[in-house]
Amino acid sequence: MPNKWKHFLDILDMPRSQSWALVTRAKEMKDTDHRSQVLAGKVLVMIFEKASTRTRLSFEMAVRHLGGDTIFMTPHESQLGRSEPLKDTARVISRYCAGMIVRTFGQEKLEELAEYASVPVVNALSDLHHPCQVLSDLLTMYERTPSFKDLKVAWIGDGNNMAHSWINAAIYFPFYLSLAVPKGFEPDARILNKAVQLGARIHVSHEPKLAMDGAHYVNTDVWASMGQESEQGARSKPFANFQVNDELLKLADPEVKVMHCLPAHRGEEITDEVMEGPASIVWDQAENRLHMQKAILEWVFGHAPESTAREFA
Ligand code: CP
Ligand code: NVA
Repeated sequence: MPNKWKHFLDILDMPRSQSWALVTRAKEMKDTDHRSQVLAGKVLVMIFEKASTRTRLSFEMAVRHLGGDTIFMTPHESQLGRSEPLKDTARVISRYCAGMIVRTFGQEKLEELAEYASVPVVNALSDLHHPCQVLSDLLTMYERTPSFKDLKVAWIGDGNNMAHSWINAAIYFPFYLSLAVPKGFEPDARILNKAVQLGARIHVSHEPKLAMDGAHYVNTDVWASMGQESEQGARSKPFANFQVNDELLKLADPEVKVMHCLPAHRGEEITDEVMEGPASIVWDQAENRLHMQKAILEWVFGHAPESTAREFA
């Protein structure tokens, strides 16, 4: 194991220049259908406490494209489901596996694993952040608009894990982020305040029309995230006006692109017409998960090439 390996629990775990470099590196990997052997002989365990299609498959494919292998594990068939402490699990896994890709609930669970592991831990989604998704969404934007400086990115919906990772991305990437969230579903104040203190250009309101006004990209996500299924019914009223539909899109830039991390609930946060319409770039987003996972894994394992970063300003 090279001693340059790192954990990746949040976009802010890497320097700004590295986050830019990952976007350009992932684009290069996509354009060249990149394969390597940087993970040859390495087996990564994937611990998923929540369901996944894109993240699981794109990571499993990415590891194989880099010459490594994966083992998939859930709490149900492991001792995690019988309350074996995370700190014990982290040390045991570190004796067998070269890294851990983890989808879980509390961010503190990832932090505990990372504290006790002697191999890299990667956040494959927590209740607080979804950094791999947002980095790959930045790649999807970069392919269309390589300069981010004059872009307005709208967020319509819950102040959730995706919103938090967009807020942290706005610290590093120079777009203007306008979030419209229902009352009572604002993003975490600590994450927001820190981002603003660090110079991110962010506005939070309860007005979807305000966020959408002139936006170049609009993002949305499910009204109730994984783990919040019991709140699904109660959320439908406060979220009713937070739907990305054709009427709302008319307020955006004429070239607006619609993004969704998926899975989508058509008829709730987004209409079928918008999902299937010309502004939708959701399938490119899904594809780019694969390319960005490769770039992330290279960096996590200390194999990232010398910075290929360009100025995003
Ligand atoms: N966007 C995303 O993380 O999808 P999955 O839940 O299918 O992994
Ligand atoms: N906010 C959603 C994202 C799914 C990829 C969730 O956590 O369920």
